[in-house]
Amino acid sequence: MRIDIFSSKSYDIRFFKAAAAEKSLNLVFHEERLRLSSVKLAEGAQAVCAFVHDDLSASVVAELAELGVRLIALRSAGFNHVDLNAAAESGVVVARVPAYSPHAVAEHTLALMLTLNRKTHRAFNRVREGNFRLEGLLGFDMRGKTTGIVGTGLIGTALARTLIGLGCTVVASDPARSAECEAMGVRYVEIPELLEQSEIISLQCPLTPDTHHLINDAAIERMKPGVMLINTSRGAVVDTQAVIRGLKTGKIGALGLDVYEEESELFFEDLSASYIPDDVFARLLTFPNVLITGHQGFFTTEALQAIAEVTIGNITSFAKTGAPLYPVSLPH
Ligand code: NAI
Repeated sequence: MRIDIFSSKSYDIRFFKAAAAEKSLNLVFHEERLRLSSVKLAEGAQAVCAFVHDDLSASVVAELAELGVRLIALRSAGFNHVDLNAAAESGVVVARVPAYSPHAVAEHTLALMLTLNRKTHRAFNRVREGNFRLEGLLGFDMRGKTTGIVGTGLIGTALARTLIGLGCTVVASDPARSAECEAMGVRYVEIPELLEQSEIISLQCPLTPDTHHLINDAAIERMKPGVMLINTSRGAVVDTQAVIRGLKTGKIGALGLDVYEEESELFFEDLSASYIPDDVFARLLTFPNVLITGHQGFFTTEALQAIAEVTIGNITSFAKTGAPLYPVSLPH
């Protein structure tokens, strides 16, 4: 069976080759993103493997079906970028990796919080320049602070565990409560209450029509002055312009992002010798209390290993039984 792996980076090649070592699969790696202009590369493949910035809109899915592709194996948990109706209509099965390492993302989220709080990103530069002054580096104890987690699925639950370990009070909002979180002492509240009570707010929900721009001007208005906001879920859960307004008034005291609404033209590429074409993103970079990472929450050895192994499992199960291990189906 031939599988075409789009948006391949050196680390994808390494982990996928290792995961498929014992299998009789023909892995074809493409550095190109999957999009309408590159979809023809998949001619002859029975499956394609795609990541978060690959284009899986209706026209690309239809073209894949036309070329004979029967399976789209996502190497991500999120599937908001796939036109599931188009896949169902053209008989293409979609699979994903639901839980490769929730700890990877939860720990990265914690790293953003602690860095923004204790300003180690600024201290690093100061000390290297021989500046040992402490003005501007004042932080706060995490212990006793209220952290609001929006979405207590696998990542949100792992994050709650670490925050409780630090002595934070955790409140959460999720239409589906986690018994594990409740047992840890997480208190469930509605979103407005979470926004009003939290010193730190962390977004761990998927991007859906309900969560699109969940953090907008009205939501920011409800927050405590100087709140820390962290988004490691999907960029469009946050209205970036509203957040910039919040930063300018000081209402938002610190912002940590691993995802950005328009990240697909920036992230995973090296633009250091050219320029940043996105003025809104460039504006974000001007704030000293904003810390942005380029969608690296998932980027640990354990997670990459699990992504490759589960994806190969999805593909071999599909080849044997016609069904992947973890199909993505249309919402009812
Ligand atoms: P999950 O499916 O285990 O949990 C998501 C939770 O969000 C569920 O409990 C769900 O009920 C809840 N939720 C849905 N709508 C909500 C709403 N309107 N308000 C509050 N909660 C809501 O997913 P998991 O594995 O915890 O991942 C969460 C998200 O993190 C993914 O959908 C993905 O977008 C993002 N992610 C980011 C990564 C990164 O590298 N930064 C890597 C992996 C995932």
